Amino acid sequence: MTCERTAGPVRLGVAGLGRAFVLMLPAFRNDARVRLVAACAPRAESRNHFAREFGGRTYEEVSALAADPEVEAVYIATPHQLHAEHAVAVARAGKHILLDKPLAVSMEDGRRIVEAAEDAGVHLIVGPSHSFDTPVAQARALIDSGEFGRVRMIQALNYTDFLYRPRRPEELRTRDGGGVIFSQGIHQIDLVRLLAGGRGQNVMAVTGAWDPDRPTEGAYSALVTFGDGCAATLTYSGYAHFDSDIWMDGIGELGARKDVSSYGRARLALSAASDADDEIRLKSARTYGTASRAGEPDTYEHFGPVIVLCDRADLRLTPFGIHVCGDMRQEFRPAPPFRQSRAEVVAALFAAVREGRAPVQTGRWGLASLELCHAILESAATGKAVRLKEQVAYREER
Ligand SMILES: NC(=O)c1ccc[n+]([C@@H]2O[C@H](COP(=O)([O-])OP(=O)(O)OC[C@H]3O[C@@H](n4cnc5c(N)ncnc54)[C@H](O)[C@@H]3O)[C@@H](O)[C@H]2O)c1
Repeated sequence: MTCERTAGPVRLGVAGLGRAFVLMLPAFRNDARVRLVAACAPRAESRNHFAREFGGRTYEEVSALAADPEVEAVYIATPHQLHAEHAVAVARAGKHILLDKPLAVSMEDGRRIVEAAEDAGVHLIVGPSHSFDTPVAQARALIDSGEFGRVRMIQALNYTDFLYRPRRPEELRTRDGGGVIFSQGIHQIDLVRLLAGGRGQNVMAVTGAWDPDRPTEGAYSALVTFGDGCAATLTYSGYAHFDSDIWMDGIGELGARKDVSSYGRARLALSAASDADDEIRLKSARTYGTASRAGEPDTYEHFGPVIVLCDRADLRLTPFGIHVCGDMRQEFRPAPPFRQSRAEVVAALFAAVREGRAPVQTGRWGLASLELCHAILESAATGKAVRLKEQVAYREER
């Protein structure tokens, strides 16, 4: 069964009222292209909070949310390892899906989700990821214009305190999708693939699991080659002491100016947690009903320094636009005026559901990015390059 296209805002149900939902909430609240009509969460407090704020119906089971006739599309923001169960249920109910990254943990689950959406004829958008950020789209458009010639190399790096933010136990277990590869690497992979054209070829990588108290990968460095000769290096550390947002004009990942006095805050807060339950309580303080996004964003989100080396210019992505260093001169090309964080994601959902236009970040795209996550882990474990097999281009090749 396929949802009929109607008019007006997309009537959205939400599965999972946690941290990811908090980050998407301002865009959902402030954008007339979407209306929150129902939600599903195991905790009664979250459900009640949602019902009070949006007046929508709430459910304990995703299958019941998906069956709600008012719901046209579901934003799935449950833990990675539940994505397959939830996305397949939503697809089978004939509803469109916005599935927070990563697509899934295993490739088998990823394929199941993609096939369920294709069989049902519903849109599957995998995101938000930072490949949706406006400056990334702006850089992609500059590359497409041909003004600067071919993309030869891309460097992306990001140093954060990711591993020391409060976590559920499974977020520290690689087999359940824990560690930085599936949660953070996926952002970098998505945006680098978009800038490089999409089709990765070979991956050589190392990973680091340096903290025995948090026994999962907290860092990686990968060299990815692409079909047309472009090569990209992707480096991430979630153990960082040096914060690479300093190289992003002092703007944090979510587009807000960073408070310099917050140095070391994640490690300090975590050091006060005595056990895993305590840590879950800390995480709950960042969830729906108790937290909002920290700081009002001034500009677009980003995922750390990214530089694209082209034949006739190097493009440095910033949260405000693109710094173009050409042969004889350099200039700044501003992004369109900033209005609302993650409006790009709502725009993609609306275009898919109302206009039938799928974004780049489809299920097949998400599967290709997930393949790269696994390739990083495999290459690091074997010391060998891994050949990629499930890659797709960012647009149909002519
Ligand atoms: N795109 C982003 O910026 C971003 C940021 C954070 C998290 N995420 C993604 O969102 C997903 C959730 O991560 P999180 O940090 O929000 O976790 P979280 O623990 O804060 O939230 C998960 C939510 O899912 C709910 N849940 C658990 N089991 C459920 C079930 N069976 N049915 C319905 N709801 C259920 C939990 O109660 C909780 O409200 C992950 O896949 C993660 O990668 C994305």
